[in-house]
Amino acid sequence: MHAHSLALIILLLSTFSVNSNATKGFSIDLVHRDSPLSPFYNSSMTHSERVQNAALRSISRANRFGQSSSMADTSELVETDIIPNDANYLMKISVGTPPVERWAVADTGSDLIWFQCSPCPRCYPQNAQLFDPTRSSTYTSLSCRSNQCKSLPQVPVQGQSYPYCSTSNECTYFYSYDDRSYTIGELGTESLSFGQAALFPKRVFGCGHNNNLAFYQNTAGFVGLGQGPLSLVSQMGNVGRKFSYCLPPISQQQTTSTKLRFGEEATISGNEVVSTPLIPRPDSPTYYYLNLEGITVGQQTVPLTSQGNGNIFIDSGTTLTMLPTSFYEQVEALVRQAIGADQLIVQKSYSKLCYTNAKSIQNVPAFVVHFTGANLSLNLQNIFRFISDDVMCLAMLPTDGKFIYGNVAHIDFEVEYDLDQKKVSFAPVDCTKQ
Ligand SMILES: *[C@@H]1O[C@H](CO)[C@@H](O)[C@H](O)[C@H]1NC(C)=O
Ligand SMILES: *[C@@H]1O[C@H](CO)[C@@H](O)[C@H](O)[C@H]1NC(C)=O
Repeated sequence: MHAHSLALIILLLSTFSVNSNATKGFSIDLVHRDSPLSPFYNSSMTHSERVQNAALRSISRANRFGQSSSMADTSELVETDIIPNDANYLMKISVGTPPVERWAVADTGSDLIWFQCSPCPRCYPQNAQLFDPTRSSTYTSLSCRSNQCKSLPQVPVQGQSYPYCSTSNECTYFYSYDDRSYTIGELGTESLSFGQAALFPKRVFGCGHNNNLAFYQNTAGFVGLGQGPLSLVSQMGNVGRKFSYCLPPISQQQTTSTKLRFGEEATISGNEVVSTPLIPRPDSPTYYYLNLEGITVGQQTVPLTSQGNGNIFIDSGTTLTMLPTSFYEQVEALVRQAIGADQLIVQKSYSKLCYTNAKSIQNVPAFVVHFTGANLSLNLQNIFRFISDDVMCLAMLPTDGKFIYGNVAHIDFEVEYDLDQKKVSFAPVDCTKQ
């Protein structure tokens, strides 16, 4: 027996033993982009600059940019399943053999797992070295005739239809996000691992050779946590297609690490757990669509009339909750009425309703979000964001684009996404104690 094949067998054995450890589930750290632990952290940025930037990213995620970018004809792109891109949380993932560990955006609003790969004629700047597939013994490119290649979104860009066959029949993909970010590269399979906790051999992985990110300079790439077949959760195998997180208040995220939990570890329990069905939308296989039936402010309920087919998607990566304009206006009017007119209302850019001298506000109304089968009572910190010590703004905005249940509303809830049982569950908890 050649030493080479012996090494291969040992590698396979160790692969399987580590993999079976992972069958019950595992957890990894989830880091907010503005936390000092994040590679994005900019210590000279003020709190209100961070808040404003997050609002800007939410708007970019909800709205489709109508202008065509230099790279792609976005009027064609919007007809495909476009995946927006305001992920605010980062995770570490190791790719290849030997494993290369990098920070990537953890994104419930997209599917593909990809890194910037060398050679990279058009990469955005990143601090860490590029991933080099030729140095990984486990990287294999996928044929353009593979099912994995066929499950990519079909996108025409500048006369070229993606995905397409390269001269050597490899799968060349184009994957885009709403804010004009995109990656173009080769689809392959690779080993993905998360510390010692879990190893997933031969998972679909994009090697991006031409990448443009609007907001995420520095990260090595993306980890898609959407519902589509190429996402990390869909490729979890025995671990099961389930994950959960618990986001502490932003002010606590510098001192509390948050976990992203997979498989059995993701299960939330207790008598306060409520669940709402995931609504399949064939026109949008990635997003986690839910039915929002209405919102109660104080004693009054504003019903949302457009129901039934999944009218809002839940996204850990979008900061603000984006609501249909007329619905938003009714909800905002009730909040404004409950708080009373004696507080100065200020209008900040990217926020419609703000209060100064915010800590003295007493009359914050009860606020209940009614999803089908799940009523969620939101706290002050879910409804408003403090943009400075003194000023708080409603963490919701009107939009004519996509309706999104953003991450400020998830704070201090355990949120579990169960793709097999087709439901999203919530339980109110103190996430700093998780
Ligand atoms: C950090 O934030 C400051 C203040 O907004 C800004 O001027 C500077 O360009 C930022 N630095 C980086 C590296 O983004
Ligand atoms: C949610 O709240 C509404 C209005 O208060 C109530 O009619 C409904 O039964 C509640 N649903 C659940 C599942 O608790």
